[in-house]
Amino acid sequence: MNWGLENRLSRIIKPETGHALMLAVDHGYFLGPTSKLEVPRETIKPLLPYADALMLTRGVLRTSVDPDASTPVVLRVSGGTSIIGAALSNEGITTGFEEAIRLNASAVAMSIFVGTEHERQTLLNLADLVSEGERYGIPVLAVTAVGKELEKRDSRFLSLCCRIAAELGAHFVKTYYCEDFEKVVDSCPVPVVIAGGPKLDTFKDTLELVHEAIERGAVGVDMGRNIWQSDHPVAAIRAVRSVVHEGASADEAAKLFESAVSGE
Ligand code: 5RP
Repeated sequence: MNWGLENRLSRIIKPETGHALMLAVDHGYFLGPTSKLEVPRETIKPLLPYADALMLTRGVLRTSVDPDASTPVVLRVSGGTSIIGAALSNEGITTGFEEAIRLNASAVAMSIFVGTEHERQTLLNLADLVSEGERYGIPVLAVTAVGKELEKRDSRFLSLCCRIAAELGAHFVKTYYCEDFEKVVDSCPVPVVIAGGPKLDTFKDTLELVHEAIERGAVGVDMGRNIWQSDHPVAAIRAVRSVVHEGASADEAAKLFESAVSGE
């Protein structure tokens, strides 16, 4: 047993419910000033009390989150590409463990790009990160990235990615929800959280996505745009929280959302 690693992971995946609501605000690392995340501090501050963990880069952590915050940090440590560059998949490791420890990170996160020209480099980066993370007791979250190719998000592809991440030692995996999602979870021997992806048509769609994912075995979400691009981000995160931690249905969470919006 790696006590430090288990301890850090339990700060993120809450032992009380076995679930996690992670707030992803790392998008700027390749997208720049994404809509509604232009001033990270303003986006993050009101949402922080409702998040079990905050996923972000060292730059946004150091500039936009007060150091007395008690929310665990999942530090994005891969990058080196941009949305206008040649290949989003050409990521390297941008931040080392000395920095992760200095920043009191509870986990580090990196993307793998399976099926791309940079598959090998990102998978070997994951394997190295896991070996080093285990030395320091810091868990590694592997993100099964698809870059601009959102149509790749089916259960066959995502099962392949999640399983490879787990085989290389990732301690938990972040992927997308998809049809037959239980196949992705069942063939992945480590906990799975889902991203929300681009903003959905309605917030009810988001709640249904989260509810389905939890029902089919996800331990939680690591969600960004469908929360903070909402016109009511605090009401949105509270509603998602009720699904993740309290077993609320999408309808019950939608009612909670409406009543929080009317009380704003
Ligand atoms: C990018 C990421 C993002 O953090 C992720 O996609 C989660 O955010 P969203 O819910 O907006 O998709 O890991 O690779």
